[in-house]
Amino acid sequence: MSILDRFIRAKAFDRDEDSLAKTSEQSQDLVIVPMRRAHIRKIMPIEQQVYPRPWTAQVFVEELEQVRVGKRHYLVGTIGDELVGYGGLLYVENDAHVTNLAVHPMWRSRGIATELLLDLAWEANRRGCEAMTLEVRHTNVAAQQVYRRFGFVPAGVRKKYYENRDDAIVMWCAGVQQPEFVEQLRRIELDRI
Ligand SMILES: CC(C)(COP(=O)(O)OP(=O)(O)OC[C@H]1O[C@@H](n2cnc3c(N)ncnc32)[C@H](O)[C@@H]1OP(=O)(O)O)[C@@H](O)C(=O)NCCC(=O)NCCS
Repeated sequence: MSILDRFIRAKAFDRDEDSLAKTSEQSQDLVIVPMRRAHIRKIMPIEQQVYPRPWTAQVFVEELEQVRVGKRHYLVGTIGDELVGYGGLLYVENDAHVTNLAVHPMWRSRGIATELLLDLAWEANRRGCEAMTLEVRHTNVAAQQVYRRFGFVPAGVRKKYYENRDDAIVMWCAGVQQPEFVEQLRRIELDRI
């Protein structure tokens, strides 16, 4: 499947009461596209709402500069005019590290994080990465569930990683080039139909 095929792939979502007014005239399909600077304005309210220590707009600008030189990969998910989620990868040698994955609270539990992570995982596979890694707050059950589905397993703990208080669980997904990983991504894709 080409990168373009994946970017034009769309998924229909049930209408959400609160967003109905805003998007009633628009498509309810999730569209995943590469993050651009113009998206940052819409990303920031989500970032500030979902993280105790949010990235600044400047961090996103700098991350996008790294995309231009092939060291990062960032995506956003949109439904109509609304930016509903985003995520990204940092490449370290043969690993792809998930730097960020967030979904607007109003659009949770609809599989949007799963869709974003699918695209990131395919990208890591296409790029030839051997493994994917990330850190997740030990209390963040929702995110850990999303990651486990892709084959991430706990691989260690970074003590007091967040705000010098909460531990981070390091999660690791090996075998990104293995057929089993590709099969798992296909299974996740099939599950959503
Ligand atoms: C983690 C996060 C990105 C998940 O986004 P999402 O779009 O709601 O996730 P999905 O709908 O793709 O969920 C996929 C699976 O994760 C699990 N899951 C999602 N939310 C959950 C919750 N609140 N509690 C338990 N499991 C949950 C479920 O197994 C779900 O599958 P199901 O819907 O078939 O039951 C979102 O909660 C978020 O933005 N959190 C704040 C930012 C953050 O913590 N990011 C992770 C940084 S490491």
